[in-house]
Amino acid sequence: MELLWKLILLLSLVECLEGSGVLLRPEFTKQPGSVVFPLQPGENRREVVFSCEAQGHPPPFYRWKLNDSFILPRPGSHYSLMGGNLRISHLNKEEDVGIYQCLASNSFGTIVSREASLHIAYLENFKTQRRSPVRVREGQGVVLLCGPPPHTGELTFTWIFNEYPSFVIQDTRRFVSQKTGNLYIAKVEPSDVGNYTCVVTNTVTKSSVQGPPTPLVLRVDGVMGEYEPKIEVQFPEVVPVAKSSTVKLECFALGNPVPTISWRRADGASFGRKVDINKASGVLEIPYFQQEDAGVYECVAENTRGRNSAKGKLSFYVYALMMSAHQAL
Ligand SMILES: *[C@@H]1O[C@H](CO)[C@@H](O)[C@H](O)[C@H]1NC(C)=O
Ligand SMILES: *[C@@H]1O[C@H](CO)[C@@H](O)[C@H](O)[C@H]1NC(C)=O
Repeated sequence: MELLWKLILLLSLVECLEGSGVLLRPEFTKQPGSVVFPLQPGENRREVVFSCEAQGHPPPFYRWKLNDSFILPRPGSHYSLMGGNLRISHLNKEEDVGIYQCLASNSFGTIVSREASLHIAYLENFKTQRRSPVRVREGQGVVLLCGPPPHTGELTFTWIFNEYPSFVIQDTRRFVSQKTGNLYIAKVEPSDVGNYTCVVTNTVTKSSVQGPPTPLVLRVDGVMGEYEPKIEVQFPEVVPVAKSSTVKLECFALGNPVPTISWRRADGASFGRKVDINKASGVLEIPYFQQEDAGVYECVAENTRGRNSAKGKLSFYVYALMMSAHQAL
């Protein structure tokens, strides 16, 4: 009985609120989240919807901002509102990337949602059709440039030797930089003669494109004698590394005989935990980076003709989380 009375009381209270026009401040029930949109080459059905929903009395109306300017969803524009949701059709990588925010307003006031970013990941095709032959002497070192096309998102690189699916195998003599895509051959042998094609893969869109083949040709005017290692791939002087992230350092040298690469800490400290030095030694990988891993690292390239080294400092930092505020205006 008592319950029934409470219910009746509550119902009349709600009626009273509506009748008297009591205002309820809008509150978000859904907010937009950040999006990385993978754009495949030649794809035209591309659309993103940012969600936004709020309750309040009177029911809120919605507006959206891109990089702090209001979006005006006019007829014919590629923006449209579905309730509070913002739909962007025919996504365009020049006009649409940025920070989006939803605003919900009623006569009580306006609230602003958290920031949601829109990134577009893409990888264009190589523009050049052919590359001129690279002529080297036997015993010499060589660098073949990849020169990846315009893109966003992280790339990985491999090289085809002559025909797919014959890939260049990395060892102490051959190295593919995952920073630049370039292929390094420490000391050229007659069996290296052929065509080299760089294959670039976007890790976000999963799409791959092939560069124009570069022919490698052996010069017949002599053989290159022995020489000391020349470091061609080296890591930056200072590398800031976030706590718990994985860092990869690259180091590779040309030379005759083929140099060996070794790694050490210049401050004399041992690596302590397990660091991963890949078979060809050109990459030092430190997973789950911690304060004690910070310091100066050195890679040493050595052959019977001499030795050279490269150094860089790994500095440790802790990510400061940026909290997005739900501010009321
Ligand atoms: C929004 O700002 C970002 C970062 O400054 C910029 O890259 C992007 O082009 C801007 N977007 C628009 C549509 O102006
Ligand atoms: C390299 O490519 C050229 C042009 O396509 C071709 O004529 C040549 O035979 C190729 N060389 C090898 C070793 O496959």
